[in-house]
Amino acid sequence: MKILVTGGAGYVGSVLVPMLLARNYQVRVLDNLMYGGRGLLPCFASRNLEFMKGDVRDEAAYARALEGAEVIVNLAAIVGYPACKKDARQAEEINVGGVRNLVRLRKKDQLILQASTGSNYGAVLGDLCTEETPLSPLTVYGRTKTEAEQVLRSAGNVVMYRFATAFGVSNRMRLDLLINDFVHQAVKIRNLVVYEKTFKRTFLNVRDLAASFLFAIDHADTMRDQTYNVGHESMNASKEEIAQLIRKKFDFYLHFAEVGEDEDKRNYEVSYEKIRKTGYQPTVSLDEGIDELIRSMAVVEIRNEFNNV
Ligand SMILES: NC(=O)c1ccc[n+]([C@@H]2O[C@H](COP(=O)([O-])OP(=O)(O)OC[C@H]3O[C@@H](n4cnc5c(N)ncnc54)[C@H](O)[C@@H]3O)[C@@H](O)[C@H]2O)c1
Repeated sequence: MKILVTGGAGYVGSVLVPMLLARNYQVRVLDNLMYGGRGLLPCFASRNLEFMKGDVRDEAAYARALEGAEVIVNLAAIVGYPACKKDARQAEEINVGGVRNLVRLRKKDQLILQASTGSNYGAVLGDLCTEETPLSPLTVYGRTKTEAEQVLRSAGNVVMYRFATAFGVSNRMRLDLLINDFVHQAVKIRNLVVYEKTFKRTFLNVRDLAASFLFAIDHADTMRDQTYNVGHESMNASKEEIAQLIRKKFDFYLHFAEVGEDEDKRNYEVSYEKIRKTGYQPTVSLDEGIDELIRSMAVVEIRNEFNNV
């Protein structure tokens, strides 16, 4: 089977592509290498990897990349609200325009697995978010990912995954993700200031996130044209709970501040009942994932720019 992974050199792609190769799939990656390509270096040991440097905004490049693929895992995007805010037009062109290109250029029998996000829910207070909860994104990131969902849903032959915030290690490391960021500050700076400590968020280890795509390939017949929250209720946690979990393992100065806010105002709890009923189960707990991050800080430099390590 041939699988196209757009954005495959990124944080998620660098974990997913080796998993696909380990299953002997033919894997083609289309990526413009915005953050470089080092994450994929070990994968070139396999003859089953084909890398195409290209942009999802470039129709000719996209059409070539789609040739012969049975499944497309669509990861290419400008990710997170700070990166999208920096250049909203670029985020719109890639996150929505790239998806419009994809649905226009693919043949209808080519299945799309879309990496969408729980950010699309915005702030939902009181209730558990299910896949039926109305989307009310509050940032350019959320709005573009929500629009991409609409384009894909009307095109059909898609599995829509709304992921929890990923955490854990990848060859293309991201330190802007909440848990990765907290562990990085705790271990490297030994100082962490947390605002909006009661805000609830939801998390998923990056290996479990990647594994959910393998699961969708195996269960395409029943998952096609469905939307799933991907994560686990045991990983719904407040910012305070995350900080305290880290502090149990590593001593650092922890301060809860009254001022400061996240622009995306995310404060929500998510139900994962629908995907659990399919048989999908994450395997890495918050506790194990935080341990892994603490160990990895031995080789991570102190960050000086968001989303670009
Ligand atoms: N990491 C998370 O917590 C998380 C959570 C929910 C959803 N997602 C989604 O998963 C996907 C991957 O996220 P990630 O964390 O790996 O981000 P990332 O920024 O590490 O990776 C994105 C990749 O896309 C590539 N890319 C960007 N614009 C491109 C373009 N125009 N053409 C071709 N390639 C392009 C980049 O070079 C990069 O390799 C995204 O769609 C994101 O919205 C991620």
